[in-house]
Amino acid sequence: MNHPADPAADPAAESAGSAEPAESGGNPAGTAHAGLVIAVDGPAGSGKSTAARGVARALSLRYLDTGSTYRALTWWLLARGADVSDPATVAADAGRPVIEVGTDPDEPAVRVDGRDVAAAIRTRQVSNAVSAVASVPEVRSHLIAMQRRIIADTLAAGAGIVAEGRDIGTVVAPDAPVKVYLTASEAVRARRRTAELSADSSATVALTQAEQARRDRTDAPQMAMADDAVEIDTSGLGLDDVIGEIVSLAESRTAGAWTR
Ligand code: DC
Repeated sequence: MNHPADPAADPAAESAGSAEPAESGGNPAGTAHAGLVIAVDGPAGSGKSTAARGVARALSLRYLDTGSTYRALTWWLLARGADVSDPATVAADAGRPVIEVGTDPDEPAVRVDGRDVAAAIRTRQVSNAVSAVASVPEVRSHLIAMQRRIIADTLAAGAGIVAEGRDIGTVVAPDAPVKVYLTASEAVRARRRTAELSADSSATVALTQAEQARRDRTDAPQMAMADDAVEIDTSGLGLDDVIGEIVSLAESRTAGAWTR
């Protein structure tokens, strides 16, 4: 893995910790549902990323993967050889890298200090370290502020957005008019994650399920279903069914104000 530039030697690091949309320009069609925020929460492997991107495409909305902000910071810490199990080290460095996350559902860019890390943040190494990083309060306050800024900028630009994560409906965007909480059985979630890691031959379903159970335990304090969220068990559903349910919910929750 390449090491990111030393922020101290990087002029861009003067704005360390700021979030900039990684794509310029907007989705012209995104203006069709100006102001709409759809919160999609759920555990790893619940199908939320694929579903959230599908909903964003279906309704011409922008898309924010908040997990990628935690993964980007984790990648940066690992690349520097930091001890991610030490909350004090992680807290001290939380604001140092310049993390940029794009909102294009077709190609959500992720950059750290200008480097494209969209693929690098999906490795098992990052997946196994990210929960510890995401549980540090200073990390959460820093990245949640960044996520809220991206959502606010999107709305200010006249678009709507689907934001996915663990705490969107409860913490990041508690006023979102549409909230879903996706679940799936542990076995289904592990199978989906293993398929995503197909390039890594060491990722068996059993190993993935064990690692997932460990992550679930560390992620638990961050995960909550909002009182006004609708729970969808995706275990036996096809992707189109899940997208269709969320689009229908958006239509009913917003009384057609934003949708076709
Ligand atoms: O969804 P994901 O697997 O890419 O998320 C990566 C990690 O980030 C996961 O361990 C939980 C954490 N996370 C979080 O704490 N809050 C969010 N809103 C999104 C992700």
